[in-house]
Amino acid sequence: KRVAILISGRGSNMQALIQAAKHADYPAEIVGVFSNKSDAPGLEYARANGVPTATRSHKDFASREAFDAVIDATLEDWEVDYVCLAGFMRIFSNGFARKWTGRMLNIHPSLLPKYKGLHPHQQALDDGATVHGCTVHWVIPELDDGPAILQAEVPILPGDTAETLAERTLAAEHRIYPEALRMLASGEIAPL
Ligand code: GRF
Repeated sequence: KRVAILISGRGSNMQALIQAAKHADYPAEIVGVFSNKSDAPGLEYARANGVPTATRSHKDFASREAFDAVIDATLEDWEVDYVCLAGFMRIFSNGFARKWTGRMLNIHPSLLPKYKGLHPHQQALDDGATVHGCTVHWVIPELDDGPAILQAEVPILPGDTAETLAERTLAAEHRIYPEALRMLASGEIAPL
């Protein structure tokens, strides 16, 4: 299966997916990385690992739809089967999200449906939660609202800050994202 990854920054989840896809028996090939930030550190990693990249700034487009149309054209050009959002900090127009529903995944650092949106680690701490985690889910037009595919739990420890909790959660993200994509690409889980 042909997979594109969309990033906006560091791209550590993208790195985990690229590394996993290097194994001969992995059922997916990372065919491209797209970023809305031309200076996204993850782009350098993708290029160094032989993965084609494309980048366009949303600031260059008059509307969300026009920007999404460029992303769509890039994905069609790469002939992708699935799209993995990995720290992609843009909200899609409804039309784009609807078109890719069933072929687009995201990873969110909380046990959805808890703590949607920004700063989920801080939300969990503010909530006095003792357990946190991350979720790979289907992308649908509603933000962070698609059905979960795979989740992992991490403990919240005394003295945790948003940073220490994010670091512990990120390690779990790097495990479940490659596994969720493997399950999907191998047909182990039904498409949405
Ligand atoms: C991760 O916490 C991910 O769950 C969230 O944004 C962060 C991106 O990290 N979507 P990275 O860019 O994959 O390192």
